[in-house]
Amino acid sequence: MRAVQAREFGGPEVLVPVEVPEPVAGPGEVVVELAVADVIYLDTLLRQGWGGEMFPRHPPYIPGGGGAGQVVAVGEGVDPGWVGKRVVARGQSGYAERMTASVEEVVEVPDGLAFPQAAAVLHDGATALMLAGKGEIAKGEQVLVTAATGGAGSLLVQLARDAGARVIAAARGERKLRLARELGAEVAVDYSEEGWDARVREAAGGEGVDLAFDGAGGELGGVAFGTVAKGGRFVTYGTSNGGFAQIDQQAAEQRRIRAINALMDGPPPPDVVRDTLARALALAAEGRITPVIGATYPLERAADAHRSLAERATLGKSLLMV
Ligand SMILES: NC(=O)c1ccc[n+]([C@@H]2O[C@H](COP(=O)([O-])OP(=O)(O)OC[C@H]3O[C@@H](n4cnc5c(N)ncnc54)[C@H](OP(=O)(O)O)[C@@H]3O)[C@@H](O)[C@H]2O)c1
Repeated sequence: MRAVQAREFGGPEVLVPVEVPEPVAGPGEVVVELAVADVIYLDTLLRQGWGGEMFPRHPPYIPGGGGAGQVVAVGEGVDPGWVGKRVVARGQSGYAERMTASVEEVVEVPDGLAFPQAAAVLHDGATALMLAGKGEIAKGEQVLVTAATGGAGSLLVQLARDAGARVIAAARGERKLRLARELGAEVAVDYSEEGWDARVREAAGGEGVDLAFDGAGGELGGVAFGTVAKGGRFVTYGTSNGGFAQIDQQAAEQRRIRAINALMDGPPPPDVVRDTLARALALAAEGRITPVIGATYPLERAADAHRSLAERATLGKSLLMV
């Protein structure tokens, strides 16, 4: 079958189209014929050799974390009734025509939801819902979302607005700020400009925001932490700005800010992921969240998808059309 492999750790150029043997479903697994493969920012970090302790990858490997398609085979112990079903599946690969997945990580796609939209919520939708739960967004609150027009961020903006919050979005460049406003942010601030944090505090009425979701991490995440009002909450999950957000624990304690690193406890158990994913698919099918599919590429051009993410040129979700 056709696939894309990371030949070694390195830049986007290590991603090359290849022919590889067909995957076979082991016990408890299914084979999914992918229509669409999901591309997330983490894929670009793993390709560079980052995060091996939590997500071991050994080149040459097929990158990705799953996608949407149809079950074409089942392994021992799996109900054959899965064959033919339209599903999303998570697994250790995705940039390929077919992948294996544990049946525990497969969820049926609701009728009426197309494969690209389903693949678009496979990670970002579940992540955004998990974060929204941790942040406990309340009606009328001032909520900052950084990296607001990325795959996960663009859904968080919608969820926060849906929960009745007043959303302040932070992103880089006019195109992204415009999109953030279209998604429901009342204020959009360019966080590549000096003094952006003061503008966020001002937009929130002077004291700061009640809650911040940080999808950028690194230095930007540290500055975002400083926009949270006394007694507020800071939920960080981004690492695209150079690792986890650098926050001052002492300042957090002094200002009674609940700082939550949503990734610290590792991935949630499969049943929790499945439930959250099923909720995300249902919200997408009902039109309550609308994934912004900003970039689609043929499978063979996975390297271009990674380049565009590194250059911060992508709006919303990137997908590979298999
Ligand atoms: N998707 C998930 O399910 C998931 C799960 C766990 C953690 N995360 C983390 O959450 C963040 C967002 O993930 P995503 O998959 O939705 O990715 P993404 O948003 O599609 O792309 C990365 C985002 O990070 C921002 N960014 C800030 N500094 C950057 C830099 N130096 N280089 C590139 N981008 C930069 C970009 O927006 P600007 O140009 O506006 O800054 C862009 O919105 C990532 O850090 C990721 O590791 C995601």
